[in-house]
Amino acid sequence: MKNSGKKRVKWAQEHMPVLAEIRRQLKKDQPFQDLVISMALHVEPKTAVLALTLKDGGAEVYLTSCNPLSTQDDTVAYLKKSLPVYAKKGETEKELFAGYEAVLDKGPNIVIDDGSDMIALLHKPNRKDQISDILGASEETTTGIQRLRALEKQGKLLFPVMATNNAVMKHFFDNRYGTGQSTIDGILTGTNLTIAGKTAVVCGYGWCGRGIATRMRGMGANVIVTEVNPVKAIEALHDGFRVMPTTEAARQADFIITSTGNKGVIDAEALKNAKGGCILANSGHFNVEIDIHALEKMSEKTEREVRELVDAYYLKDGRIIYLLGEGRLVNLAVGQGHPAEIMDMSFSLQALAALYLAEHKGEMKNEVYEIPYALDSMVAKLKLKAMGVEIDELTEEQRKYIESWEL
Ligand code: ADE
Repeated sequence: MKNSGKKRVKWAQEHMPVLAEIRRQLKKDQPFQDLVISMALHVEPKTAVLALTLKDGGAEVYLTSCNPLSTQDDTVAYLKKSLPVYAKKGETEKELFAGYEAVLDKGPNIVIDDGSDMIALLHKPNRKDQISDILGASEETTTGIQRLRALEKQGKLLFPVMATNNAVMKHFFDNRYGTGQSTIDGILTGTNLTIAGKTAVVCGYGWCGRGIATRMRGMGANVIVTEVNPVKAIEALHDGFRVMPTTEAARQADFIITSTGNKGVIDAEALKNAKGGCILANSGHFNVEIDIHALEKMSEKTEREVRELVDAYYLKDGRIIYLLGEGRLVNLAVGQGHPAEIMDMSFSLQALAALYLAEHKGEMKNEVYEIPYALDSMVAKLKLKAMGVEIDELTEEQRKYIESWEL
């Protein structure tokens, strides 16, 4: 398609009304005047809308990718007309890290990260002279927040970070409905196979796992959930899913989808049990959840791209196992990422988190900050308005009643 980058960004923009409203305000107020914003995000159309929004707010914006396979090259080509972008689909890990270093070399005042690789790099000794210029960072994803909490716990966090992932208007919708839908997008794009009547094993029942399990069921799959957390396991049971250990579940699986944030979830033992023809996909941030090394060791032959972004592993015992998107997050490596209407909320919060950092310069500690509920509430109200949905309001009497405690 001619001008596909421009058209796709325009399409995303037209389906991100909350961000459009925030963009209008930022353009008027210019709160990012004289500030450099370095971003490491999945470079695709919705991200382009965020980058252009921050630029319209007066920032000098630099964008790099946060994953070697999630970039959409037509978006890069289009966005490069407005700002520097360092990303290409299928780049090596070395190129990915060169991109982080390039945007960090621009001397950011605000950092927007997805996965916290770039924030981690800023904590290396060679970057220590830059730290005093940094107002703070904002992190997009659960995995990134986990890493930041570890850094904070060790007392080593060098600047404030907004936990954008934890905002309710982010994880309720993005992690659950966004990942639910975009994981299916990735699986269908990769395989063009039926989901109905198949058995899907979803590893991890956090917000993303809940979304994937629910959407796979919606497509007619028999879903098994695997968990290490007893509370989440009981929740999955009460949501109507079967729950069992991964090694056992693997015997029945037509699809195995990991979404735990942890490594080695599909290990040699699970692979030993997997049915021939089983399709493996990961929806967690990093490509560590499926033990690809073990899979390689068990295989006598590997065939790259039997379909686009589908690799076949021919096991010594005759089974074939398929891996989508090299075990990288399937929803972005093979699919197109979350729907624009969902990223509208996530990226509105990213823009508001950046604004919060700019407005609270010098007032914040080197801690991980939750997004103030007022921002969540603002995004929710704007979203409802954009959706044309009205809701009830408390009467004064009702407000007093729920705020009282007396008998
Ligand atoms: N598009 C841009 N960033 C994304 C993310 N973190 N998850 C899914 N889709 C995205």
